[in-house]
Amino acid sequence: MTSASPLSHVEAAPADPILGLSAAFARDGNPDKINLGVGEYRDVRNDTPILAAVSTAQTRILKSETSKRYLSIDGSPEYGAVVRDLVLGNNFGIEDERCAVVQAPGGTGALRVAGDFIHTQLPGTRLWLSDPTWANHPKIFSAAGVETAEYRYYDAHAHGLDYDGFRRDLEKVPAGEAVLLHGCCHNPTGVDLQPDQWDEIGGLLAARGVLPLVDFAYQGFGNGLEEDAAGLRMLARQVPDLFVANSFSKNFGLYRERVGALLAVTESAEATANVLSQLKICIRSNFSNPPAHGSAIVTEILGDPALRSQWLSELTVMRDRINGMRALLVERLEDRGVAKGSFDFILDQRGMFSFSGLSPEQVDRLRKEYAIYIVDSGRINVAGITLDAVDYLCDAIASVL
Ligand code: LMR
Repeated sequence: MTSASPLSHVEAAPADPILGLSAAFARDGNPDKINLGVGEYRDVRNDTPILAAVSTAQTRILKSETSKRYLSIDGSPEYGAVVRDLVLGNNFGIEDERCAVVQAPGGTGALRVAGDFIHTQLPGTRLWLSDPTWANHPKIFSAAGVETAEYRYYDAHAHGLDYDGFRRDLEKVPAGEAVLLHGCCHNPTGVDLQPDQWDEIGGLLAARGVLPLVDFAYQGFGNGLEEDAAGLRMLARQVPDLFVANSFSKNFGLYRERVGALLAVTESAEATANVLSQLKICIRSNFSNPPAHGSAIVTEILGDPALRSQWLSELTVMRDRINGMRALLVERLEDRGVAKGSFDFILDQRGMFSFSGLSPEQVDRLRKEYAIYIVDSGRINVAGITLDAVDYLCDAIASVL
């Protein structure tokens, strides 16, 4: 290599804390290996199948589509309308003109658009993240040039919400700054706000003039499609302005199709139009315009009553299986002599993830000695546990405790 090589100084980056685990898992030759890292749903056979409603919609689209022309910068208006109804509800009471929806490649794409918007339109604004939060959040916003700060959220000792700390920290966020909230199924803890807490936080943010950005990637995986949206809808009724980054990776199983959206609600039709025009600038210089296939599938399903009801049943099956695995995990750990009740907090958590309380050393031992892959923070993807694997998993956890 000559010293003139412009790339010779580039250092190796660390593996991604979540997707890097999937790569390491793929290389692992242990036949008993279990991947409980990345948030992907697995069925009883340990597969992540294409939902039946998705297959039907996809077949229809492939038969009827006649062109691969570009979508517009903000994506398909039909898709925007179904997303708005699903997230905010169709009797929401916010006039359509006050809510703009831009299509984005997954929830990550939507968050990045929000980050680019904050960086360009609200320069110097800090974005407050929960402690802990999804490992990719700080990276997305740092790449967009947005400074982040942390608010208290999780009480590790009680395995629950530190509501007092959370509220006090939000009271300290300066006016005009932004706060990222998890709409439901908090990632990584699975610990959510209760309705009265959403109500109080909404009032507080409105009074302080703080801008909420809600990450809403798991609608339907917590308590139900409408139930999971109740908190953010309550918030939207209180604050003048709000962003929501949504994703259909999990609830439609469309992971690799990259389907999501960013919703912007403001006080007036005029402000919304202005925000939308700036969001389009952010999109154009990033991914130019969104991919069409996955969003067409979502639009087809939500617009067809029979397909919609089939999808809702499939979503219920996924949610019920996750909650069943939570109960089984706790039961089988207790069978192995783990103190009764000591893992009951897992039953109260919601969504795909359980913040197990396992230490990084214990996580490391699980990986090295048992080929069980979970995130260093101790986050377990409960949606990845199967009946075939649960005993091996619980034996391994009991042995490292
Ligand atoms: C996760 O947290 O595992 C998922 O959101 C997938 C990802 O991209 O990290």
